[in-house]
Order: sequence, then C-alpha cells, then structure tokens
Amino acid sequence: SSFGSLLVNSLTKLGVPSEFLESLSQLINLDDKYPKIPEAKGAISAIRSEAFFIPLYELFLTYGGIFRLTFGPKSFLIVSDPIIAKRILKDNAKAYSKGILAEILEFVMGTGLIPADGEVWRVRRRVIVPALHLKYVAAMIGLFGEATDRLCKKLDAAAYNGEDVEMESLFSRLTLDIIGKAVFNYDFDSLTTENGIVEAVYTVLREAEDRSVSPIPTWEIPIWKDISPRQKKVNESLKLINTTLDDLIAICKRMVDEEDVQFNEEYMNESDPSILHFLLASGDNVSSKQLRDDLMTMLIAGHETTAAVLTWTFYLLSKDPSVVSKLQNEVDAVLGDRFPTIEDMKKLKYTTRVINESLRLYPQPPVLIRRSLEDDVLGKYPIKRGEDFFISVWNLHRSPTHWEDADKFNPERWPLDGPNPNETNQNFSYLPFGGGPRKCVGDMFASFEAIVAVAMLIRRFNFQMALGAPPVKMTTGATIHTTEGLNMTVTRRIHPPIVPTLDTQKLQNMEPSANVPEA
Ligand code: HEM
Repeated sequence: SSFGSLLVNSLTKLGVPSEFLESLSQLINLDDKYPKIPEAKGAISAIRSEAFFIPLYELFLTYGGIFRLTFGPKSFLIVSDPIIAKRILKDNAKAYSKGILAEILEFVMGTGLIPADGEVWRVRRRVIVPALHLKYVAAMIGLFGEATDRLCKKLDAAAYNGEDVEMESLFSRLTLDIIGKAVFNYDFDSLTTENGIVEAVYTVLREAEDRSVSPIPTWEIPIWKDISPRQKKVNESLKLINTTLDDLIAICKRMVDEEDVQFNEEYMNESDPSILHFLLASGDNVSSKQLRDDLMTMLIAGHETTAAVLTWTFYLLSKDPSVVSKLQNEVDAVLGDRFPTIEDMKKLKYTTRVINESLRLYPQPPVLIRRSLEDDVLGKYPIKRGEDFFISVWNLHRSPTHWEDADKFNPERWPLDGPNPNETNQNFSYLPFGGGPRKCVGDMFASFEAIVAVAMLIRRFNFQMALGAPPVKMTTGATIHTTEGLNMTVTRRIHPPIVPTLDTQKLQNMEPSANVPEA
C-alpha cells in the first residue's frame, strides 16, 4: 500500500486531523495486510423492494458470507456466514448492541427486553426468564387448545356455509388472544369481537413494522409528528394500551397482596398463571414504566411471530398433500379426539419436524439487527465499532453450501428419532430463535403453541388454496407477511370408515346404539 501510506504520512505532516485520515485510509484501504470486505455499491433498490431479504440473497450468492451494502453515506454489513453469525450473537455478544432496532422500537417497547442493552437488559432478563418455567408452559398447553378450539368453531361455520377464509388474519387473532392471556391475563377475545383495544394493538404493530422498513423517519420531523393524523392515532392507541396495562398491573397487584402462598421457582397461580402474576409475586422491584415496556415487548414478540409461522406452515402444507396425510396419521394416532397435553408434545414428532422446517424456510424475523460497540475481527476482516449489521437468517437457512435442496420443504431432512434441530447442534446454520445470550425466551412456548394449533386444525379440516385466490407473495415488516392474505377453502375432514374388528357373535349381543363411530 505504498501510495496510500505515502499520502497519509504526508497529510499527517501537514497537520490534517487524524479522524479525517482514519476515514481516508479506510477509503483507500491502507491496511493491505487485511483483505477488504466485498462491497455491493448502489444497491439501494435492494433495500427498497417489498421483501428486501430476497435481493439480499442474490447479493449473498455474488459477494459471499459478509459484504457491505452501501447507499450514499450509509452502509450496512450483511452477514450470511454461520461462523460470523455465531461470533456476533454468541462468542463475542458483549461487543454488539441492538443498534437501529432499539431506535426504531423505542416508541412502543421503550427499554423492554428486545431493544434493551447493557445493564437494563441484564437485570430484566434475569427476572423474566424464570417466569417461563416448565410448569407454566405446561399450563399454557391448555390455553393453546381452548383458543384453537374457538378458531375451529369459526372454521366449522365457514366450512358449513361454503365461505372461504383468510387464514393470516385468523392466525394473528388466535395468537393475540393467546399471548394476552399468557402474558397479563387479559382476554382480547379478538377471534370473536372487534374492540377498541384490539384495534389499538394493530395500529401500534403496523406502525412498528412500517418504521422498520421506512427509509425516511417522518415520525421524527418536529411539527409533523404532532399534527399528522396517523401519528395522532398511534399516540392515542399507545395511550389506550398503557392505561389498560396499568389497570391490569393494579388488578394483579391486589390479587398478589391477597394471596397467602410461599413464592418458589415453580410458583404459579392456577386462576391467573400469567407472566405478570409471576413477576409481581416474585417481588419484582421495578418501575411501572419498565414493567409495561416488558409486557408490551412480550405481547409483540409472541404474537406476530407465531402467527407468521402458522401462516407459512399452512401455505407450505397446501402445496404438499403427502406431508399433510403423514401429519394426519400422527395426530389421529397420538391425540384421537382429545385436547393436547404436555406429554403429547414429545409424541407429536412429525408435527414438530413440520414446524422446524417451516421455521427454516420462513424465519421470523428474517434478519437480526446488531451494531458493533467495539472493533472486532470477523472471519478474515477487521471491522470498526459503530457498524450496523443485518444477520440474514433467511440466507443462513437457505444457504446452498449448507443445505441439500435448500428451497425444498422437506420435514424428513431431520430424522424423527434425532435431536430437535437448534442453533447449537446445527452450528448456527439454523437459528429460528436466535442464539447466545439474546436468544428468544419464548422458544418452547412458541413451539408448543404452533404444534397444538397445527395438530388440532389438521385433525379436523382439510385446507386448500381458495379457487381464484391471488398468488401468495411475500412482504415484510418485522416478520414475513403475505401481500394479499392466505385465502383458503376449509372442509370438514371425512375420517376414513372405522372397520369394526368385533366378531359377529359379540356384535349381536351388543346394544344397538352403542359406540356408533362418528362419520
Ligand atoms: C427474542 C424468534 C416467540 C419473547 C427472539 C429472537 C428471535 C425470536 C429470533 C432473537 C432476536 C435477536 O437476537 O435480535 C421468535 C419466534 C417466535 C417467538 C420465531 C415464534 C415462533 C416468542 C414468544 C415470546 C418471545 C411467544 C414471549 C412469550 C422474546 C423475547 C426476546 C425474543 C422477550 C428478547 C430476548 C432478549 O433479548 O433477551 N425471538 N420468538 N418470543 N423473544 Fe421470541
């Protein structure tokens, strides 16, 4: 790098400030002993497109496991290499923060567990993780079953009336009803009614998603942010949610004050097993703002993600009847007509593989966001503090070097008697719930929720894409949505005739009305 160092040396002698020289030397890549990160310039169109992780996949195939995406003064490092992802998320996690993610989500999550960094995150994580203990998750299986049963009733009516259904919005309501009860014992009842609080939650969610993909932060423009009708609506919605949460916290505090039980690791109030109740009973000493931030964070984290998983699972199933019949066989054998229990979760092995594979093809969210707090070396590249990273889980999960037939929906790729695939046993080529210290706290909860919903729905109905439905295309906010919904025709499943194995003698002695199998 003789020319570069000569230039910088002469400029130093001339008294040029060192910050300027640092950027200059970066620009001309003074450090020849280090290779330079490949750069995809002028690819702004990539980020602007509806589902921006798709063009990032093409760029990954061209530029490799880490490359820089530059537009104007701004640039991002796009990571699609499992070793680098592991370094950022796990091995050197302390050197990275949530960066722009925290900035975008501040208005709705404050310093809740997802955006929080440093000491706030450390303290809150230690308080919240114990709330999701095994006994709690087992109790939640009953809640998943009841909520899915309400969805089944709705689908029964649609099947009977011959009406098509838009499954994406139904899944969103299913998971909203579940997470409201699970986190703060509130019944949104969104599968049955339209109400103000449900609308407020959706207003805030849409805003969070729009902000995460918007190139210009219009919500920060001084006067505009106060007079724009849209921002006004967002603020009113936030106010309504906050007062509702404050009320729920107050009600729960009263319950906890009145109860006379010793708090322990597996503490659970049977009539209100919510996370909020656990936190208050544990003596969580925290400001009401922080508590609200954490509740709001879990509401959002646990709602749209699981809804998206169910949406894409049913989309994949609609294209693969052989997987559906295998699923139905397993569900019939394991569950029969019962509601699922925690013991069934181990037995529904194929159902689990279907969810594993759906999470591989449609990871929610498709990218993880980080910012470097220190200099680091990633692979063979040195990087500076203050860089923004997109770790493309989409690319990791579809990398042609790591997966055979990467784009194929193939639940059989993981043997039924093998371990459940996760980031550790797949060496960060598969990380549906992230990895390292910031890994999802709701992974078991969410997996069981999806298994219960898939099992109960597949047992009762056949699903097909509705005739004349628009093609299913992707768009993205925080999770992957369809552009025009998942329109399906549901029909009640006709069970195969049950052939009696009784001999004729016994049959003749039987009461005529006994045990007639349901058609
Ligand atoms: C974090 C995925 C359901 C609560 C995460 C992360 C991922 C993820 C990938 C890591 C984010 C990052 O590293 O930047 C999912 C998926 C779900 C799901 C795919 C559904 C299938 C849930 C549920 C809850 C939850 C049901 C709550 C009950 C959280 C929280 C964090 C988190 C609080 C932040 C943890 C921390 O930073 O310490 N989730 N999640 N998630 N998730 Fe989930």
